[in-house]
Amino acid sequence: MHTIDPGDSFTTWRDAARRLLAGGVPPDQVLWEKEAGLFTGLAEEPARYDLSGSPTPSVPRAFVGLAENVACHRDPARWALLYRLLWRLTRDGGRHLLALASDDDVVRARRMEKAVRREIHKMHAFVRFRKLGEDDSGRERFAAWFEPDHFIVEAAAPFFRKRFANMDWSILTPRGCAHWNGGELAFSAGIDRDPFDGADSLEDAWRTYYRSIFNPARLKTRAMQAEMPRRYWKNLPEAGIIDELVRTSQPRARDMIAAPPRPLRREPRNAYLDQLRELSQAPSCALPPPGTPRDEIARLLVACRQCPLWERATRAVPGEGPADAPIMIVGEQPGDREDLEGRPFIGPAGQLLGRAMAEAGIDRDGAYLTNAVKHFKWTARGKQRLHQKPDAAAIDACKPWLLAELSSIAPRVLILLGATAARSLLGPGRRITRDRGLVDAPQLARRVILTVHPSHLLRLPDRAGAAAEFERFVADLRLAGSPDESVPAPPAD
Ligand code: URA
Repeated sequence: MHTIDPGDSFTTWRDAARRLLAGGVPPDQVLWEKEAGLFTGLAEEPARYDLSGSPTPSVPRAFVGLAENVACHRDPARWALLYRLLWRLTRDGGRHLLALASDDDVVRARRMEKAVRREIHKMHAFVRFRKLGEDDSGRERFAAWFEPDHFIVEAAAPFFRKRFANMDWSILTPRGCAHWNGGELAFSAGIDRDPFDGADSLEDAWRTYYRSIFNPARLKTRAMQAEMPRRYWKNLPEAGIIDELVRTSQPRARDMIAAPPRPLRREPRNAYLDQLRELSQAPSCALPPPGTPRDEIARLLVACRQCPLWERATRAVPGEGPADAPIMIVGEQPGDREDLEGRPFIGPAGQLLGRAMAEAGIDRDGAYLTNAVKHFKWTARGKQRLHQKPDAAAIDACKPWLLAELSSIAPRVLILLGATAARSLLGPGRRITRDRGLVDAPQLARRVILTVHPSHLLRLPDRAGAAAEFERFVADLRLAGSPDESVPAPPAD
């Protein structure tokens, strides 16, 4: 009998399993024990099986993915299960074993895989960083405490490296810790207790925000608990107020219904703030409340998961420009370069926009440039990432961010480039060819201009036509007026 202890290490199990398999050691001859000395059995019984040289049989790729997930499960029996599956897969007729949905080993492995994947997903959603301070160079340092059931820290960490690439952080858990310093992802052993005590200012801000977006009239306790299981609550800053909010939700909802309707206001500027408030009502929504400054919007945006686009993008790309910019320009979505560098309009379309702005007398550095959709939607063609148009669901999911930017910058002039920006802020039914030029939308800005997207100009095949279209584009931008011009509001209907 061979006794092997891979600890919690998939690599150790894999190396041992390869050697056992190559030596023809059947599963019932191996004890995968947590506390046993590493490879003790292998040293004791060299004569029965040749563990040195035979090539390892190839295994289906699907097994590798399954094994990596199962290896994260806390059940000590996982190593034996994996070796049994591996053995059976590499025997005659076993190649399609994983397709047998009724096989006991396959069922167990799939169940473990599912538990692990679910917990990785929960970790992505429920890790809350706390600010620890700054290092000597002024770089901010954050840490989070999380208590997973399984050994998922290494599998979950790349997500945080990608999302929070620009800050230093540690995620501490009893089942291993991950650390990022802006250049390297490192892991260390788990620790037993949450080393932080109480609240810090970030958490207070989060609680205030959570309270403001909690809508008692839309409370669905069961759905909320399914999405956000109670066992994660103790590490969520908002958890301390959930019980109180749930308890008081019925009288609050009754008060809301009984309250007299609010009079319609004649202040067009506030219309989008109301819309933003409404869009931010869902309890699971981490969207910026009205009045959030643009830097804070950019900080919150990093963690946006309102639609699936975040999964394939490198990062969310926030707007860029002065907090009091008189002109705000809204494009479609970040392109390949914008996605990689995290800044809007720096690729070919952005350069063309810059040239047109210069011709129209608009100072690019003085304007606020942003997009209707904050994540890059793309499809792969070979090694290239090809732009894909965002659909209505993504545009709507991203709209609160755009409204928050608009509310924070409050520009005198708003320029919408192309159909996506128009769809987001003016609603469906606009046609650029028909409606381009000044549009009447005083709830958005005193002057609103609708025009083509610069990437449309880049696609025009004929040079003369392209030059004429460029001039028309510049003429649209000139509608913004000169910087010191005071623009009268369009007459009310
Ligand atoms: N196109 C856009 O709409 N936005 C960018 O940021 C880049 C290209």
